[in-house]
Amino acid sequence: MTSTLIRGRLLSFHREPQSIDDNAAYAYESDGALLIEDGVIRAAGPYATVKTAAPQDVSEIDHRPHLIMPGFIDTHLHFPQMQVMASYAADLLEWLNTYTFPEECRFVETAHAERIAVRFFDEMVRHGTTTAAAYCSVHKTSADAFFAESLKRGMCMVAGKVMMDRNAPQGLLDTPEMSYDETRAVIADWHGKGRNHVAITPRFAITSTPEQMEVAKSLVREFPNLHVQTHLSENRDEISYTCELYPQAKDYTDVYARYGLLGPKSLFGHCIHLSEREADAMSETGSVAVFCPTSNLFLGSGLFPLRALTRREKPVRVSVASDIGGGTSYSMLKTLDEAYKILQLQGERLNPFDSFYLMTRGNAEALALVDRIGTLQPGSDADLVVLDMAATPAMALRAEVVNSLADELFLLQTMGDDRAVVETYVAGKPSKSA
Ligand code: GUN
Ligand code: ZN
Repeated sequence: MTSTLIRGRLLSFHREPQSIDDNAAYAYESDGALLIEDGVIRAAGPYATVKTAAPQDVSEIDHRPHLIMPGFIDTHLHFPQMQVMASYAADLLEWLNTYTFPEECRFVETAHAERIAVRFFDEMVRHGTTTAAAYCSVHKTSADAFFAESLKRGMCMVAGKVMMDRNAPQGLLDTPEMSYDETRAVIADWHGKGRNHVAITPRFAITSTPEQMEVAKSLVREFPNLHVQTHLSENRDEISYTCELYPQAKDYTDVYARYGLLGPKSLFGHCIHLSEREADAMSETGSVAVFCPTSNLFLGSGLFPLRALTRREKPVRVSVASDIGGGTSYSMLKTLDEAYKILQLQGERLNPFDSFYLMTRGNAEALALVDRIGTLQPGSDADLVVLDMAATPAMALRAEVVNSLADELFLLQTMGDDRAVVETYVAGKPSKSA
């Protein structure tokens, strides 16, 4: 067994910070170390203590003066949309129909899916993201390519073959039967292989017939422990069209509720325009509203009401995500930078501890994976990101006057991107520089 000691400044959250002064919410070690064995964190704490407990022949990696945190987690993105990013469209539905659906049709080809999968994981690692909840395309080939690459790299990923059987080009449609059989096949082939988790993934109500939603319901019944992911209440035209397609439903959220899709492992992308009734339904079922700041701004979808959702009498669980390719950056730092601005526009604050909590432990809790990822707790998988607040000349200049951890985090979030990521460890293996 090989043991590695990784030295640097350590930051990991115990719980959500209540304010910028809530230093009981996190553990910070100014000269800390992690002892890594078999891809798992065995010990974490002051360097001197962890070193004493380590085997004599331990190999040491010194990241001082950089900051070591749990790897970033992205709770919503689309792996077949890497070549859709930066497409010029008026709004969501135009963007989907003009660019996104045609592009996703290409993932029927194994060679294309495999090529993009390699590039996708390269980008994740370059940006310090070690776990993502991803949509593949409708084609099983895309899920196979995604999970094979994830397995090869030993990454913890959640992903699903998209189910969609209407309102898209022929090359991007399955049928209710196909979506059932192929989702089951993806589960059989990939769920629990390595660190792979399969999610039941009906794209959204507009692209699924009631018959396909019944299939999604059956799959959730059959596999109650799997994640479910879909889109909800992103854009006004999308909401109206959904209500036309499902006239019996009380509202958009009720469409999913009727098919048993709400629950503590259900991730709903966007949730910008929910009514109070819908927010109650989300809260009562423990469903997660996924905030996708760069995408919401890029597509002009609206301002996610983070505080209104989390501070209500029946709070809604939230997470944060890039939503590549509606989103405009792979970086969770940039994502939280835009989240900050969206809150500013609503007269609210997002303090830097809150942001870094969300990117790590908060998102791990949203995925119900906090026992494995999102913290530096002994026993966790050693997925780590190493951050340099002086990564660029402009950042280095600003860093000269940083005099607190809060300042440092805020600088990283506001000015940082992949260049601030010195190294990314996947299950203890340095993967960015590899
Ligand atoms: N709603 C349904 N599909 C999509 C998608 O691919 N991206 C976004 N942003 N919203 C969606
Ligand atoms: Zn999405």
